Amino acid sequence: MMTGKQLVEKYLSFFKEKKHAIIPSASLVPENDPTVLFTAAGMHPLVPYLLGQPHPLGKRLASNQKCVRTGDIEEVGNASHLTFFFMLGNWSLGDYFKKEAISWSYEFLTSKKWLGLDKNKIFVTCFAGDKDAPRDEESAKIWQECKIPKEKIFFNAKEENWWGPAGKTGPCGPDTEMFYDTGKKKCGKNCRPGCSCGKYFEIWNNVFMQYNKTAEGKFELLKQKNVDTGMGVERTITMLQGKKSVYETELFKPAIDEIAKLSKNKNEKSMRIIADHLRAASFILSEEKGIVPSNVEQGYILRRLIRRAVRNARLLGIEGKFCSSIAKIFVKIYSNEWPQLKNQEQAICLELDKEEEKFSKALAQGTKEFEKLFKQNNGKITAKEAFLLYQSSGFPLEMTIDLAKEKGLDINKKEFEKEFEKHQALSRKGSEQKFKSGLQDNSIETTKLHTATHLLHSALRKILGPYVQQKGSNITPERLRFDFSNPDKLTDAQLKEVEKIVNEAIQKEIPVQREEMSLEEARKKGALAFFESKYAPEKVSVYTINSFSKEVCTGPHVKNTSELGKFKILKEESVSAGIRRIKAILEK
Ligand code: SER
Repeated sequence: MMTGKQLVEKYLSFFKEKKHAIIPSASLVPENDPTVLFTAAGMHPLVPYLLGQPHPLGKRLASNQKCVRTGDIEEVGNASHLTFFFMLGNWSLGDYFKKEAISWSYEFLTSKKWLGLDKNKIFVTCFAGDKDAPRDEESAKIWQECKIPKEKIFFNAKEENWWGPAGKTGPCGPDTEMFYDTGKKKCGKNCRPGCSCGKYFEIWNNVFMQYNKTAEGKFELLKQKNVDTGMGVERTITMLQGKKSVYETELFKPAIDEIAKLSKNKNEKSMRIIADHLRAASFILSEEKGIVPSNVEQGYILRRLIRRAVRNARLLGIEGKFCSSIAKIFVKIYSNEWPQLKNQEQAICLELDKEEEKFSKALAQGTKEFEKLFKQNNGKITAKEAFLLYQSSGFPLEMTIDLAKEKGLDINKKEFEKEFEKHQALSRKGSEQKFKSGLQDNSIETTKLHTATHLLHSALRKILGPYVQQKGSNITPERLRFDFSNPDKLTDAQLKEVEKIVNEAIQKEIPVQREEMSLEEARKKGALAFFESKYAPEKVSVYTINSFSKEVCTGPHVKNTSELGKFKILKEESVSAGIRRIKAILEK
């Protein structure tokens, strides 16, 4: 029986044979990409290269990328939806296109040397065509040449068979998706690949990025045609092992067994939610960026995952602290391939314990208040009350919605979310939306701020000392935001000095140079590189601003610091213990 680990090995060897360079998984927390909170697909870290920047390792790449996606969080608990998963992918950056991508997919799935899946159980879907782009007959024809019969090829509209741009503009195109028939009965006359009943398991998606969506909403043909594919590890081994759900595979089973042991009531969906959410939380907490539960951005998603797990545990009759005992099981399952889980085990457990305790208190208090309100209102709850409940006892909106649903109330989620948005600086829906989207904004404004970030980083190290390390960066066209390690608040004088140093570098009109080299060489030359070193790529780009700054980075950057304008710090604040944040802008 093939394990998840073996599937990953096979996939990467297959694409190595097809002349692909294997790139390491990027961090779950993207650098310099304001459009997403987490890396949600293997292609996210590759956006600059999909847009035409040369990749140091060539035009054919493959990887096993850790991903977090919460767009479908409500679906978690069915056979295959997960908030955290591993995505295998292969890419062509303007090299091969549909013919090779599809025939390699077919070969990998069906050849006895590779996965050896039953070809009679494979179904595929292609793009049906609309006013923007024609029906993808080309892909369908290639599938037929691979001996997939016509009746197993289905055509769907954009909602199903088109990928990107996740942002407003950028590369995108039709995709072709591969499904495996589980043998389950059709749920109805219209049941077909893509139906959510679970008969057809989606295992792989090949995206053909041949268009660029412009700001005017036009789809122009791209000069560089790319292939971007994604295969879910958990889903695919479920099929290979003949299992009914991802939770029966070795990647989950020990955790599910433990949850079942602790539970008084055996609700399968709740047990699965707990396992999925705590696996996701453990991986997020293992990141070097130091994400901890909070009310904003990544921290909010993390908080929500942990809290949903705890709430489901209560539904199962699990009392007392339990999260860290489940996290330890995941550490055991994954730490060979992902050693940072083992390295961070203590921190993971500590944060889970803390959040669980906090939430248990809020839950007890909030449930009481909810019941009171519910009675007072004769079995109703309004959006305003839901918000007040959140404000007074930290009772999260989704919990109120869940409780109301359990009581049989028909809740208009949008209306509730609107009420929350009215009151809060960062809307929850905003984070979700951000979360779903994907493509980086490579406008000139963000490019400038990107270079300014390197200058800021160097200036901070000059003023505070070389122990200062980048902990996170987030750039929008309006501002940069830079997190770095430093025990204390910066004084006004220090901030002024940092500003001055950056502005001097701008005035000196220094050229920004890009070179490619191995990470080892880059380090030897004194380039800053904050990687999870085991997963660092073989070749990296190094950006140098004379003796001022040298950093390993994917870019993009301006050609000369003179393009930047005037650098101004707006704010300096604390993010968490030992981590400070600076927000800054460039004035014209
Ligand atoms: N970007 C596509 C997806 O996420 C293929 O990798 O499905």
